[in-house]
Amino acid sequence: MSLYNDVEKVLVSEEQIQQRIKELAGEMNAIYSDDNPPLLVCILKGAYMFLSDLTRHLTFRHELDFMEISSYGHSTKSSGIVRILLDLAASIENRHVVIVEDIVDTGNTLDYIIRNMSTRNPASLRVATLLNKPSRRILEVPVDFVGFEVPDEFVIGYGLDFAEQYRNLPFIGVLKAEVYQNWDQ
Ligand code: IMP
Repeated sequence: MSLYNDVEKVLVSEEQIQQRIKELAGEMNAIYSDDNPPLLVCILKGAYMFLSDLTRHLTFRHELDFMEISSYGHSTKSSGIVRILLDLAASIENRHVVIVEDIVDTGNTLDYIIRNMSTRNPASLRVATLLNKPSRRILEVPVDFVGFEVPDEFVIGYGLDFAEQYRNLPFIGVLKAEVYQNWDQ
C-alpha cells in the first residue's frame, strides 16, 4: 500500500468528484444536443479519467479526440514551455469543440492550446477543467466548466501525476513533502 502511504491528505474525495462530474455533465447537456454536438478534446495524459467519467453522463451524441501536451517532467514547477506531443487526428474547422483539461494552474498550457485551436477555425470553443488553481494564474484564460477550485498545492490522483505516478488514485490528494522534495533540488 505504499502508493496510498505517500498521500499526506485527501483534498477532494472520490464521492465528491463523481457527484460534481454529474453536475458538470448536466450543464453540458443543457447547452449541447444532437443538433449542435461538440467534439470533446481530451488533453493527455492528465484528463483521461475525467473524460472517461464525464462522457458517461452526456446524453448528446459526440466524438472524442486527443491531444498530448508536454508536461512538467519530474518537477512540480511549470517550465512555461509548452509543446504538442500528439496532435488531433481530425480537423476541427466549423465544429463545436470542448477542451477537457485536468487542471488550470498558471494558464500557460491552456492559453497555448486555445491560441493553437483558434487558428483552426472551430465553430465554437469551450473549456472544461476538473480543477482550477486561480491563485497561481499568470495568463488569463477563459474556463466554462470548472469542477473544483483547489489551493496552491501540488495535487495528484484522478489522472494527475507526480513523475508519472499516482494517476490511478480515485481521489485528489496532496503528497507528503518527502516524496517530491528530492526531485526539486
Ligand atoms: P499550467 O500550464 O501551469 O496551467 O499547467 C497545466 C498543466 O500542468 C496541467 O494540465 C497539468 O498537467 C500540470 N499541472 C499543473 N498543476 C498540477 C498539479 O498540482 N498536479 C499535477 N499536475 C499539475
